[in-house]
Amino acid sequence: MPSLRSSAIALLCSQLFSSAVSISLAKPPQECPADSPLSCQGSSEDTCCFNTPGGLLLLTQFWDTDPVTGPADSWTIHGLWPDNCDGTYESNCDPSREYSNISAIIEGHGKTELLNDLNTFWKDYEGDDESFWEHEWNKHGTCISTMEVDCYPEYTPQEEVVDYFQKTVDLFKQVNTYQVLADAGIVPDESKEYDLSQIQEAISAQHGQEVIVNCKSGELNELWYFWHVKGSAQTGEYVSTTPAGASSSCPDSGIKYVPKK
Ligand SMILES: *[C@@H]1O[C@H](CO)[C@@H](O)[C@H](O)[C@H]1NC(C)=O
Repeated sequence: MPSLRSSAIALLCSQLFSSAVSISLAKPPQECPADSPLSCQGSSEDTCCFNTPGGLLLLTQFWDTDPVTGPADSWTIHGLWPDNCDGTYESNCDPSREYSNISAIIEGHGKTELLNDLNTFWKDYEGDDESFWEHEWNKHGTCISTMEVDCYPEYTPQEEVVDYFQKTVDLFKQVNTYQVLADAGIVPDESKEYDLSQIQEAISAQHGQEVIVNCKSGELNELWYFWHVKGSAQTGEYVSTTPAGASSSCPDSGIKYVPKK
């Protein structure tokens, strides 16, 4: 029988050992100072920890009913877009990092679950999801300053692409639009009509800010969420903020939320 003390030491050692192993296997995260300024608000020369000029991050989502895309009880992802804090934005910022193999890049990093999420929630209305992902990364992702290659201490090729898609899916799940609207009694229905203020109230109760609510022929079709970021877009803190630039295109009342059939 080992003494109590020696088994305690053995336990301690095994804990130390297992934590040492998991530390040595994981890549060090990209660290930003805790007092990193908030994008669009502060200023900094460190473009790896301060998103600039695209300091306003938008998560855009679709409710596609014709043709239907994605699950009947979920919105789908359009993209994550850096905006210059004022409604203008840069696009296609780095032709050398435009890719036509997003699925392969994500698979190559072993991110099976992420790829499943993309296949479920990031849908192209014409059915060509891969091309849609390429378009979003090439046009918008390449303009996120904190996701530039030099920002990664131990860069492995295209890991910033994986970060872009992972962060977008994480934000999408965090806002959970379908559930938040449903909890407020706003559900898809053939005949019901909703007010814009009702939708804004439901969303702001969870997101803390209003969003842009877009309609197509009086039917709910797109939502845009806005954040400033403290630190990097991939690991920093997202602080919700008011929309900039465009305003909602939905009418004040009589908004249809058509079921996906
Ligand atoms: C994706 O395409 C890029 C550019 O052509 C290439 O360098 C990279 O190896 C490809 N990645 C995978 C996993 O196929």
